[in-house]
This record gives sequence, C-alpha cells and structure tokens, in this order.
Amino acid sequence: MLKPVLGFHYDDETLACDGIPIPEIIRTTQTPGYIYSGGLVRSRFAELSQAFAAYPHALHYAMKANSTLALIRLLRSIGCDADANSIGEIDVALRAGFIPSRIVFSGVGKTRDELERAIPLGLKAINAESAGELDRIDAIARAHVTRARVALRVNPDVDAKSHPHISTGLKRNKFGVPITEARALLRSFRDRAGLDIVGIHSHIGSQMTTLEPIERAAAAAVSLALELKDDGFALEHLDLGGGLGTSYDEATEIPPAHAYARVLIDAARRTGLSLIIEPGRTMVAPAGILVARVVDVKPAPAGRRFVVLDAGMTELIRPALYNAFHRIVPVTKSNAEPTICDIVGPVCESTDTFGVERALPLPAVDDLIAVLDAGAYAMVMASNYNRRPMPPEVLVDEGAWRVVRRRQTVDDLLREEA
Ligand code: LLP
Repeated sequence: MLKPVLGFHYDDETLACDGIPIPEIIRTTQTPGYIYSGGLVRSRFAELSQAFAAYPHALHYAMKANSTLALIRLLRSIGCDADANSIGEIDVALRAGFIPSRIVFSGVGKTRDELERAIPLGLKAINAESAGELDRIDAIARAHVTRARVALRVNPDVDAKSHPHISTGLKRNKFGVPITEARALLRSFRDRAGLDIVGIHSHIGSQMTTLEPIERAAAAAVSLALELKDDGFALEHLDLGGGLGTSYDEATEIPPAHAYARVLIDAARRTGLSLIIEPGRTMVAPAGILVARVVDVKPAPAGRRFVVLDAGMTELIRPALYNAFHRIVPVTKSNAEPTICDIVGPVCESTDTFGVERALPLPAVDDLIAVLDAGAYAMVMASNYNRRPMPPEVLVDEGAWRVVRRRQTVDDLLREEA
C-alpha cells in the first residue's frame, strides 16, 4: 500500500490528515475541533535534528505553543527535550515522562511558589530574567541545600522584525536583562552558594521570517559568553530561544532548517559551548487545523457574504489578537462560484473574524471548513468566553486517529464553581 502524504492534503476532493479523511473524524467528534498530524510533527523534529546534527545541541520544544499531553508524549518519545514556561507546563512535561534534566524553565514572572517547586527538581536550567530573580533562586536553592542551574536571559536590543506583540528582544520589552549589564551582574552573583551559572539565554521574538535578527542576537550572546569564559565562568550552553516562523500565506519564504542551524552553529562554534534552541511554532503550527461547520451564510456589503462558523476567537484567537492570517479552505472541494466572503465566528465581538474578503467557493450551511496552520498558539490560547466549552483535539499518528482531549461540557465548567 502507498504511504499517505503527511500533513493535510486533498485526497480526491476531500481534505485528509496523514491520509485519513477529515469528515470521517468529524463524524465522531463533531465541530469545532482540532486535528493534528503526528506525521508532520515527527518529520519537523527530524528535519531540525538533522540540521543541528553536526554540533552538540538539544531541541527544547517550547511547550507554550501546544502542550496537549498526547503531543508532549509524542515529542518525548522521539527524543525531543522541553522548554516550560510555568509550573503547569513542567507538570505536564513530567507526566509525559520527561526527566527534569531535559527541561528548561523560562518565563518573565516566575512566582516564588513556582521556584519552590521547580528548584528541587534539578532542571537542566532555569532561565533567569533579572537580578531579583537570581537572588530569589539562590535563596530558595540554599534553603533546599542544593544549587540551581541557571542561565541568564539577556536582552540584546535586537529588532525581531515580527509583529510588535510577539517581539521580545528590544530594550523597551520586559524580557531579560540588558546585555550590556549582564557581565557585571553575573560577576556579582558568581559566588552565590545556591547558583551554578551554566548558560546564556536569549529569545528575541516569534514568527521571524529572516535570519538576520537571529544572527545579530546570536553574535551578541556569543560575545558575552566569550567575555564570561575569560572571567572564568564554567558555562555549558548557549540557549538561543525559538522564533523561526511559519508561512501562513504560503507565499512568505521562511528560512529552511539547515540555514537556520548554520547561522546558530557558526556563531556558537567560537564559544565551544553546546547549543539549546526552543522551537515552538516551527515544530507544530503546520501540523494542526481547526475544523468548523458553517452555521449561517448571509449577505454582506458590496456583494460579499458573511460566512458564520461554529468556531470563533474562543477556539483560535490569533486573527483577533494579532490580525494574523490563516488560510481557510473547504473540507470538501466544491464547484460553487468563488465568492468574496468574510469568515466570522459566533462571538459577540466584531474582531471575532477569521478572514476578511477571502475568495471561496460559496459554502452552504452545514459545510465543513478548515482553518490551516493552527497547531501552534491555537488550542493553548482558547477560552471559555460566552461559556463556550473547549473543543476536542484529535491526533492522527501512525495510520490511526484518536481523541486526545474530549470536548469540554458546561458541567465541566460549572464543577469549578460554587
Ligand atoms: N522561548 C521563549 C522564551 C519564548 O518566549 C517563546 C515564545 C519560544 C521560545 C518559542 O517561540 P517560537 O519558536 O514558537 O516562535 N501567541 C503568539 C506567539 C507568542 C510567542 C511567545 N514566546 C502567536 O500566536 O503568534
């Protein structure tokens, strides 16, 4: 038998995931719902791993992009490491079978509680964001009679040239410590009994489409690391964050994994330190779709149509929050006239819109629609606004599909209330 094409493709007229027709899955799960291609996640990891193979490295998947347990288990099973941004994500990683030495802990506002729980675990590194945080980590580690492995997150003041909401590397952004102050700061912390300073961390933004900002940030981190080595610090790694983009419109060219790896490896080589990267979006964005059903079609100004879906900003907030573009396609191809449509959700906000002025074969009520590249920052950002239960998630992997999160019910929601 022929192996199915990985990811989302039309088999004849019907959209399929790793060869399994979407309508077959939706018959069981109903809509709205997410469907993930395990095959695509595996191939993305393999591609990045191969790209970095020539240099000591670790791929710490940024769990914030999608932390559904089944996906985290899959990533662990294929040899990926984890980047957690809260104690909740650390918990999920541990339950998925990650050992602490394969987890890094990032985040701009780690609470005392989070640090109290994280430090005794013995993580690969805690990426510290400030002098105050270094101080708290040191005190908690000493109270536990241990030493915490820390990397200092530096802010290199480099423009990621991405959407302002997801750029983190400018000095006006809240992240890390100014790179110009990092050397003096680390010198002042070097004798702390609760700290092992093992690395430098930098992450300048997400959805980057060129390598130039990544190269500049890497060069800045490398200069600092060389100075610190001169100062006698026993650094082990350079953690250069995530940020590689996805081509949501299929026209934007994204640097391939090998070019991305070459830039980082060329920079890191001068230090002799191993590399950590924290890819999120590039690992999972193309591996997910949101499937919705058309609930209404009605006239809009200038001959357009409003196509109202049963999914909205509650399931996928990226268009509302960042004006993000996602391709929207029919699950079953049709010969209907291409019509200019505004694809909207059911929520009582005008920003609850997935796409404006899209040319689509005019859908009918009850047709299925797929929003593409919804594997990252999609389900994880869903909300219960309007008392809408969270949608189910399906993982297609190795020829079979299964529901890996069932649809929430209003009972589930009310169970938490008095
Ligand atoms: N490491 C750190 C410290 C991060 O803050 C992030 C993302 C990553 C790694 C992973 O970055 P990626 O490879 O996914 O670009 N919700 C937004 C994206 C927020 C990104 C936050 N940090 C969106 O939907 O576009």
